[in-house]
Amino acid sequence: MDRVVVFDTTLRDGEQSPGFSMNIEEKLKMARQLERLNVDIIEAGFPIASDGDFEAVRRVAQEVRTPVIAGLARANRADIARCWEAIQYAARPRIHTFIATSDIHLRHKLRRSREEVLRQAVDAVRYAKSLTEDIEFSAEDAGRSDIEYLSQVIEAVVEAGATVVNIPDTVGYCIPGEFGALVRALRERVRGLARATLSVHCHNDLGLAVSNSLAAIQNGARQVECTINGIGERAGNASLEEIVMALRVRSAYLKCETGVRSEEIYRSSHLLSNLTGMPVQANKAIVGKNAFAHEAGIHQDGVLKEALTYEIMTPQSVGIPENKLVLGKHSGRHALLKRYESLGYTLTKEHLDRAYLLFTKLADKKKAIFDEELIVILDDGLKHVPESYSLKYLQTIGGNEGFGSATIKLAHGEEVLADSAVGDGPVDATYNAIDRITGMPGKLLDYSLKSVTRGKDAVAEAFVHVQFGTHNFTGKAASTDVTEASARAYLNAINKALFERQRREKSLQVNAGSAEVFESPPAGEDHAADWAV
Ligand code: KIV
Ligand code: ZN
Repeated sequence: MDRVVVFDTTLRDGEQSPGFSMNIEEKLKMARQLERLNVDIIEAGFPIASDGDFEAVRRVAQEVRTPVIAGLARANRADIARCWEAIQYAARPRIHTFIATSDIHLRHKLRRSREEVLRQAVDAVRYAKSLTEDIEFSAEDAGRSDIEYLSQVIEAVVEAGATVVNIPDTVGYCIPGEFGALVRALRERVRGLARATLSVHCHNDLGLAVSNSLAAIQNGARQVECTINGIGERAGNASLEEIVMALRVRSAYLKCETGVRSEEIYRSSHLLSNLTGMPVQANKAIVGKNAFAHEAGIHQDGVLKEALTYEIMTPQSVGIPENKLVLGKHSGRHALLKRYESLGYTLTKEHLDRAYLLFTKLADKKKAIFDEELIVILDDGLKHVPESYSLKYLQTIGGNEGFGSATIKLAHGEEVLADSAVGDGPVDATYNAIDRITGMPGKLLDYSLKSVTRGKDAVAEAFVHVQFGTHNFTGKAASTDVTEASARAYLNAINKALFERQRREKSLQVNAGSAEVFESPPAGEDHAADWAV
């Protein structure tokens, strides 16, 4: 078996696509899970893109020690220096620098000649190499580049010290046979390429990202760039879980393997969906809700007789919980701890206290609690931003006639603030009342609600995307009561917005040499203007 190196770019290519942004704490949480998943490389972000991106890459480099930590940089000194500043703390840092090589990009985007771009690529790699050993070079839009020119650039950057050469199908244009042939041709014609690892990075515009990646592997690529749930620019990147499981299930045919712990796949997918509020489509391969559901009678009959008839891999192999009816009102802390452990969660005492409290509250409302609900209440209870505002009391009225109304009390520091409002339903009324109390009227960009398991008493998860001024935040919460879940998801987005603002205010004060600490805003004032940056 040949080993294929898994380069995860969920936190860079994935995170930069609409709806998938994460704050620093969320990125760290995701990075730790990627470490548990045992990916080889985490691309943690694009440090020059923003101070937030820089800080997130720096923290991941400092705190996640097993995988290589890569940062992205365009092929210029400023980008590369900033990237190095952020990743220098990593146990194994990598600078990933890129420039486009297709004539379309050279003519219309870079407005440079082939000679100029070739020189820039070499200069960038040489400069990066003066900072650290492990250098990846990407020829952006390689899939549409002239092979003569592409080969010339690759040969030159390997000569300059690139340890990894990445061939992106940036716009998801290639067809598997064609992309595999490109990889093979490059291996055959580029002198010195055997000294570097050959990598591919495929986008999914024609739904071919995974097929193209596998075709490249069959033709000698030994690093594959991918994301959890296939998130990424436009239609996304190649999906990590699909590539990993294809290599595992079809290992006899593909003769390659990865070091990924496949049992951590479901948890990684679920965590990402939870952090970003973006659900996974039900029929998504490997991690979708229906991926292992056999509905047709003939299939069910076959699976009951012998799973092999219709199951090419087991749900357990990707870590899908069995959804056993597990615990109820009378289950104790120890049983809860054991159940979480069997689901792969190691809880500190503080986390167990919190989880147990949430569990008993839930057990008061419903008789039987499923594994999936345990995971959701844990995610919900261990939020990573301070709760500037938390829900104390909510009473709503709704129906098919007239307005909805909501009366709400929020804890804010030592105070309890109350107000009520009407709206075109109980959720709208609740959000209007929250806006009045916090003085932070948010624009609701997206809202979704889904039940975690079956049954009328199932826990529901609410996800929101809210815009405050020019900044967007996601929020999520879970409850057996959909209005409460909706209210707390909205408050979660407000708390993230306040936390982010405090963080930025603090860094401005540090930069200005002031030691003053930013206080969260008094309730009731209109703070929308603060966000209109
Ligand atoms: O799609 C692409 O070309 C990229 C590069 C920066 C690797 O994301
Ligand atoms: Zn990309």
